[in-house]
Amino acid sequence: MTDATQALDNVPQAPTDAPPNAEASAAAPLPAAATPKSDAIQTAATAFTTGATPSAQVIDAPLSGESSAEPQAVELPRVVEFRNVSKTYAVGTPREYTAIRDINFHIDDLPGVGEFIALLGPSGCGKSTVLRLIAGLEPQHPATTGEVLCFGRHITGPGADRGMVFQEYTAFDNRTVLDNIAFGLECRGIKKKERHELAREWIAKVGLRADRDALKYPHQLSGGMRQRVAIARTLILSPRIVLMDEPFGALDPMTRLRMQDLLIDLWQGSEATVFFVTHSIEEAVFLGDRIFLFSPAPGTIIEEIHAPRPEACAVEAQAEPEFAERVRYIREKIAAMEEAAGVL
Ligand SMILES: Nc1ncnc2c1ncn2[C@@H]1O[C@H](COP(=O)(O)OP(=O)(O)O)[C@@H](O)[C@H]1O
Ligand SMILES: [Mg+2]
Repeated sequence: MTDATQALDNVPQAPTDAPPNAEASAAAPLPAAATPKSDAIQTAATAFTTGATPSAQVIDAPLSGESSAEPQAVELPRVVEFRNVSKTYAVGTPREYTAIRDINFHIDDLPGVGEFIALLGPSGCGKSTVLRLIAGLEPQHPATTGEVLCFGRHITGPGADRGMVFQEYTAFDNRTVLDNIAFGLECRGIKKKERHELAREWIAKVGLRADRDALKYPHQLSGGMRQRVAIARTLILSPRIVLMDEPFGALDPMTRLRMQDLLIDLWQGSEATVFFVTHSIEEAVFLGDRIFLFSPAPGTIIEEIHAPRPEACAVEAQAEPEFAERVRYIREKIAAMEEAAGVL
């Protein structure tokens, strides 16, 4: 496969002369041509109120006026950045265990679009650890060593800019579908009529029927329907970052493919960056713009693979020879890695 690239060493690194804070760069006047990006900066800069040491990327923005002018560098915070991140659990006890080691990557803030990042690797390689570090959830957060940044700020805990969907069904048993989906809006103080209206829209967006399903309780739903509720409950809040931990892992194969299509449809209408954990190679190849391939524990990213998303739906795309070739390439990589590590 020719579109595979050796990992993150090739990706441009953060400039060392980043501004002292992201607000400063957001406040700097920008030329008219860069207006959409300046909105993105503004959103990013207001997403965090705590933390220090912003990181940034530099893009060239055209200057208004004189055509002879040099391109002007505009500082943009990165969506997420890991710098030499390791996590050791139970430090100083006999159960001390290093789950991830020296994880380095960054996701640039692209104008008007989010990226879909698939985290792929065998069970126990630290995928959930990485995801929960981005979410700011204990005990994965904080990292043992290294830095985890979101829009240029150190992550200090969960935040409204990051939404999570888990594999386990996490709906409230005593709330209807409608009130489960509206839960986050309720927490934000949105009035009942307004939040129910929006929740009904989301019931339809995720392929359920408001007239049939709105007043059902989670135990009355199939696994696929529950995950539709979980997705609606997260996306209704429009997070800039969506964190998904094997959300389709417990579903039957056909439902899983349908859910993959649904997710792509919903995501394409947003600007969110998605981190999607899976141990299914097919799922990673179909969904991911980029795949971060993890080594067995202690997990580290051994390769970053660019995988342009097929136009076709999941069933058709995954039957294509080119798709099979991509899957085979990764399977062989994993087999070689496991053989080297002595995994049976
Ligand atoms: N809270 C914890 N305490 C101790 N060990 C943990 C904890 N969470 C995860 N681990 C261990 O870290 C390793 C990586 O876990 P995890 O990130 O869940 O991997 P994955 O999601 O790739 O299956 C596993 O061996 C797991 O047992
Ligand atoms: Mg996991």
